[in-house]
Order: sequence, then structure tokens, then C-alpha cells
Amino acid sequence: PSAGLGAPLISPPLAPVKAGPPPAATLLATDNRRSESYYETKGTVFSALIEAIDLAQLARLDADAAREEIRDIVNEIIAIKNIVMSISEQEELLDDICNDVLGYGPLEPLLARDDIADIMVNGSGTVYIEVAGKIHKTGIRFRDNQQLLNICQRIVSQVGRRVDESSPICDARLADGSRVNVIVPPLSIDGPALTIRKFTKEKLTLEQLTRFGSITPEGGEILKIIGRCRVNSIISGGTGSGKTTLLNCLTRYIDDDERIITCEDAAELQLQQPHVVRLETRPPNIEGEGQVTMRDLVKNCLRMRPERIIVGEVRGPEAFDLLQAMNTGHDGSMGTLHANSPREALSRMESMITMGGFSLPSRTIREMICASVDVIVQAARLRDGSRRITHITEVLGMEGDVIITQDLFLYEIIGEDASGNLTGRHRSTGIGRPRFWERARYYGEEKRLAAALDAAEIADESLPR
Ligand SMILES: Nc1ncnc2c1ncn2[C@@H]1O[C@H](COP(=O)(O)OP(=O)(O)O)[C@@H](O)[C@H]1O
Ligand SMILES: [Mg+2]
Repeated sequence: PSAGLGAPLISPPLAPVKAGPPPAATLLATDNRRSESYYETKGTVFSALIEAIDLAQLARLDADAAREEIRDIVNEIIAIKNIVMSISEQEELLDDICNDVLGYGPLEPLLARDDIADIMVNGSGTVYIEVAGKIHKTGIRFRDNQQLLNICQRIVSQVGRRVDESSPICDARLADGSRVNVIVPPLSIDGPALTIRKFTKEKLTLEQLTRFGSITPEGGEILKIIGRCRVNSIISGGTGSGKTTLLNCLTRYIDDDERIITCEDAAELQLQQPHVVRLETRPPNIEGEGQVTMRDLVKNCLRMRPERIIVGEVRGPEAFDLLQAMNTGHDGSMGTLHANSPREALSRMESMITMGGFSLPSRTIREMICASVDVIVQAARLRDGSRRITHITEVLGMEGDVIITQDLFLYEIIGEDASGNLTGRHRSTGIGRPRFWERARYYGEEKRLAAALDAAEIADESLPR
């Protein structure tokens, strides 16, 4: 990101200039938690740097040259002020200062790590990250809420927005594709809250999910067949349960000659096929105009001669349009939605349509859901941080007013081991002929499907009872 040099980001340090060298040992941020004296030293160096540097000139340099320039001056300041530091401490301080002047400040080291899924900043003093499914508190902090707000401002300015009291909520995106949400006071009470869902270039594959134990090889095989054979699928799960990842996995098995249109709030999916049109919604601008909703996109999709429509996240009335698409020859359309079980996914779809202002009797809506959705794949993030595919469930039809479903695969939690990890197992339910059997046959995949279902049953028999 280019530097907004001269912007209020470069604010004078809070700490007063202190005479004498700080104790060097405390400068080492071994546990990521920096000491007060580190911040004081940094403050001293920072204010001297701001006095010494020509910001206008720095702004004309590219990032590397600017970093070099800052390095020279910082080294000089450290020498003049007689600050005692080891080379590695000096490097750390230099990085830290460059990050403040040229980038996203204390967030930079977190943004540089690719093992982090989410970064959650709750005001200047509290930063959490999610790594491998678990949430940890870090020692990272911002100088104060003003510095944090400045960084939020720098982030949202890249999508032409600003956050302030009159417009305190904003979605944005980092240059690397990471999704950002900012909410600032007075709505967030303890300082700006910044949430970053980091973009992972290397999307997980079904093979990897299998290796992680998120699904069995047989279950994975069935998902591949579902992806290929144009089975209308809904992926359901909680926040961060792996819905988008799973949707992306399923799309890999779509044949190359299909015309696919994707609709997303922020483009995350990475389709491998050649014939793809990617669409993205647009939030309203500062004047509240120009919004393009998911529903607008999905409706428009239907006029674009799609073969499949993929909706990143179904949250509202677009559920109706997606179901219609599924029901009118766009077989193999897919979408994710937020629900904790396949059953709840069905009722969520119904309520999204009801609340969308379609005055249809609930029975009609249910019939429409039954006629459209073939399979619900449920993802879950369990309390030990592991992510599992807990259900592959088929929608069969109606019995009276009730939608009937049938599970093909289930994940059962058995217990907890000594280290707090959950133990469990995937098992097939012994269904030999899923409802999409004919469809699999049409695509010449029925042998593979039968083999996967058989293998799943055999694998089940070897499980402890
Ligand atoms: N089965 C899995 N095992 C391990 N990590 C996963 C798995 N599925 C997803 N993830 C990771 O979890 C994070 C959230 O996944 P994502 O698909 O974006 O969730 P959702 O769309 O449900 O919010 C991502 O960093 C992703 O790489
Ligand atoms: Mg998602």
C-alpha cells in the first residue's frame, strides 16, 4: 500500500523523551508483548525521525527506497541519542517504525503471516488472532485508539470510503484480497473494532480436507461427484466453519465447458474453469446511493445465460432467486448460508424468503425449497477448533407440511481426549441409492458413487462400536 505520508498517522509519540538508555533486555519482544520502555524508546526515535525527515520527499520514493531512507535516519538517531540496543533489537524497532510510517502499523507482522485466518482488534489494547481454528490473544497493541483509527482510515480509504461518527460502519478490502470490517465509536464502545478475514491464496483442496480429517476419503469422493453432476447444493455452517472453502472445493469438479456465474459480496472464490463471470455486490456510497445488492446480482445473472450460478453467501431475499435458478434449468447451482444444521438451513431459507416480502404461504415456499435443493453439506467448527464436515444430507420431498431429508454421511462426536481435542468419527448411514443416483448415472458417475458408498460402509464396519 502506498504511504499517506504527512497524514495524521504520523502523530507525535505519547511518551516523553527520556534521558539515558533504557534497559536493553526489555526491548526484546520475545513474547510479542512489548514493554513500556520499548514504547518510550520508539516514541523518542519516532519524534526525532519526524523532525529529521522530509515527508514530502519521502512520499516521492517507492516503498523500498523509503524504507532505506528511514533506516539511515533511524540508525543515526540511535547513535546520536546514545540508545543502547543490539543489532536485532535495532532491526525490530526499525521494522516497527517503517510499518507505522509506510503500512498498517502493528498489524503488519500479523498480515505477513499466512497461518492466520482472522485478525480481530477490539480497541487499541487488544488484538486476537485465529490460528488453526483456535483464537489466541496476541501481545500486539496500538499506541492508542487514535493510531488504530488512523490505520482503519487508511484501510477504508483504499475503497474510497471513510469512517467517522457519521458513518461508523464500513466494509473494505486489503490489496491482497483480505476482507475488512471496521466499526468505530460511538457504535463500538471501547475504541475502533477492526476485523480482518485474511485472504488465503492457497485455497484448501478436498484432498487436504481429507488429510485434516475434516471428511473421510469416501465422503470426499461423494462431494466430488456432487460437484461434477450438477447437484443443486447448499453449504451450511457457522461463521468461519469453512463454508466458502468447501464451496470453492466443490467448484473444482465442475466441467470445463460450463458457463458459470459467481455472485459474491467480496470475491473470494477461485474457480479454475475457463468460462466464468465473476460478479460482486456494491455497498452504497457515502451519500447512500449506488448500492447493488446480492438480489440484484442474482436476478441479473438469470439474464446472462448461465449454466450454473454460484452465490457466495445467501443472506436475504436472493434465496428466492437462487432457488428459482436451481429450479429452472440451472442445475448444479450452489450457495452457502449461515445455519448450524441442515434442518436449520432449510428453515433459514424459508425465513429469508418470508422476510424478503414474498407473500407466499409457507407450504409453497417449502415446496419450492424441496423442488430446488438436492443436497445440504454442513460444515462446523467444533469447540476444539477443528473443522469438520458434519453432514451430507439430501432433501427428499414433503410429507404433509414437513420437509423430509436423508443423511448420507454424518460426523459423530464420541468424546474428548486428554488434551481437550474432540474425538469422533464419520460414518455413512448405509444409504445405497441416494436421490441423485440417476443424475450420477446421467454423468457416467454411478459406478464411482456406488464404490464410494460401499467403501464408506466397509470403513464403518472397522470402526469401534
Ligand atoms: N476443513 C478445514 N480445516 C482447516 N482449516 C479450514 C478448513 N476449512 C476452512 N478452513 C480455514 O478456516 C478459515 C475460514 O474458512 P472459510 O471457508 O472462509 O469460512 P466461512 O466461509 O464459513 O466463514 C479459512 O482460513 C480456511 O482456510
Ligand atoms: Mg465465507
